[in-house]
Amino acid sequence: MLRVGVLVSGGGTNLQAILDAIDCGKIRNARVEVVISNNAGAFALERAKNHGIEAKCISPKDYENRALFNEALLEAIDSYHLDLIVLAGFLVTIPAAMIQKYRNRIINIHPSLIPSFCGVGYYGLKVHEGALARGVKVTGATVHFVDEGVDSGPILLQKAVEVEPGDTPKVLQQRVMEQAEWVILPKAIDMLANGEIALG
Ligand code: GAR
Repeated sequence: MLRVGVLVSGGGTNLQAILDAIDCGKIRNARVEVVISNNAGAFALERAKNHGIEAKCISPKDYENRALFNEALLEAIDSYHLDLIVLAGFLVTIPAAMIQKYRNRIINIHPSLIPSFCGVGYYGLKVHEGALARGVKVTGATVHFVDEGVDSGPILLQKAVEVEPGDTPKVLQQRVMEQAEWVILPKAIDMLANGEIALG
């Protein structure tokens, strides 16, 4: 059984997609051991608790400096002996020590077809604002391993989504979630849990 930790910052719809996929057997041989948020108010924490999963807040606000926060985050993650860490809308820079220790064991979902609309400054709604401003007709989502760069690690899965006339960033965001993110993130976890993609 793959021991999975999910890191979140907000609403947690991707977390919900993972939990639902485990419940209905779309993700085989994986269990979410813990959900960690940097933000105490994240609804994702409620979703975890409602599912009987341990929910933890580790906030930079509770530490004197970034180094101490980074240490606490890594210590908490280590304590769950995780095989896979999933960044599901986690909007905090992952400490270098964690990337080194869990190389090719941390995956991230990004709401565009990397290498478009990714990197510094592209997160959440800003990604869809960028796509609409550029006038692309197709966008999508990407699951990738996390390395030292921003959205630069090896790509595992991508799925394309059409942009439609009259889309607003919010409308497009919702379509990308429904048609791509909630599909390929659970799929990547299932593939990793069942040896169809190699873990580091
Ligand atoms: C998702 O759209 C995810 O792709 C994005 O944040 C949202 C979180 O939503 N992540 C990034 O932009 C990372 N660069 P959720 O909390 O409802 O899953």
